[in-house]
Amino acid sequence: MTLNKEILQSAIEEFVLSKDDLQKVREDFTNEVKATEGSSLKMLPSFLSTPTGNEKGTYLALDFGGTNVRVLKIKLLTKGKYETIDKVAAPLIKTGEYDYVHKEATGEELFDFIAKLVKEALAGDTGEIYLGHTFSFPSEQLDLANAKLISWTKEFQTRNVEGENITELLKASLKRANIENVIPVAIINDTVATLLAAAYANNNALIGSIYATGHNTCYLEKNYNGKPMIINLESGGFSKIPQSSFDKLLDEMSEKKGAQFLEKATSGRYVGELFSIATAKAFGTDKLFDFSSVELCDMIVNNSANRFIKLKTNYVPTSDEAELFTALAKNILNRSALLVTSTFLGLYDHIGEETLSIGIDGSLYGKNPFLQEIISKELKKTSEKISAFKVEDGSAIGAAIAAAMGSIS
Ligand code: BGC
Repeated sequence: MTLNKEILQSAIEEFVLSKDDLQKVREDFTNEVKATEGSSLKMLPSFLSTPTGNEKGTYLALDFGGTNVRVLKIKLLTKGKYETIDKVAAPLIKTGEYDYVHKEATGEELFDFIAKLVKEALAGDTGEIYLGHTFSFPSEQLDLANAKLISWTKEFQTRNVEGENITELLKASLKRANIENVIPVAIINDTVATLLAAAYANNNALIGSIYATGHNTCYLEKNYNGKPMIINLESGGFSKIPQSSFDKLLDEMSEKKGAQFLEKATSGRYVGELFSIATAKAFGTDKLFDFSSVELCDMIVNNSANRFIKLKTNYVPTSDEAELFTALAKNILNRSALLVTSTFLGLYDHIGEETLSIGIDGSLYGKNPFLQEIISKELKKTSEKISAFKVEDGSAIGAAIAAAMGSIS
């Protein structure tokens, strides 16, 4: 295999965005948040406002949205404090054993698997307990307790779930598993969970975001038909972003073509794939080498491009070539963080509060201080009064808070 350095160099440049590009993303984002029709943002009401901070008690939190499902028993202690009493987790795919996100799997099988985990988390407990469910896919909320999946994202394909009431699927599975003491009272998006967890401790938190396998943001709309309401933007679907030739190829190869443009340019599920496509082009092959977001971050932080290129492609790059691959990884991730920040700023312009905090959860953000820095630096250019902070375990804590809010409403 030979490496065409010119092609690699031009791929690196394709991922650079100008100040004007980013400003346009910011303005388009504000316009789409405000638009009453024709927006690529779904703007889904959550049937929840932010918590008071006085919520307390013990709840089950079901966190379903990535490659692992988790069920936690969480005791809320008010004002941002909580204790995790029990925790069980299982992957949705075990190679050679099962795969619940594949198109052969059904919704019933998936939720029966989840009900088994709920049983494990209960550990024989038979007392009545309220459950909050973080379900991290675009869903139309019918009320706080019920939501219909609009469409899968993140390449999930399980049959008989799109268009269904997720809480009904869960309840049916709990029934089949003879679990009678668990009462699902809230179903929320993971961005909403993150904002609830952030606002439980910090009054200035008005935006919640996930920067992980997927990407999405929500915010507190102070006046939604006269009352406060957290709105799930489904910002991963935002379509007004400049696309490189690699973004277009990735979209062509994806499960849901023509959708989730922002998510496909920014999130952990896709940034490695963008690198793989650009690398394949530079080697003049159709074969993709399957790089992951974790490897891209490692290349940047530990200067390990040399090792990963060799491992995946069998090609031994010179040190100059390795530097080019590092630059490619850097530009892909830099663009990702800049795009995400422009959408935060677009939302900031819409909200119109001078002081505002953004709670962010997710592995891509949480594990990579260099991405955190890019975001903080960019926000500061607009105002010192906007800050972003890491929300630990937002999806789970938020589910418990939603259960607390749902059990009294
Ligand atoms: C989903 C969102 C979710 C985000 C982060 C996206 O693919 O559409 O609902 O919030 O991933 O998990």
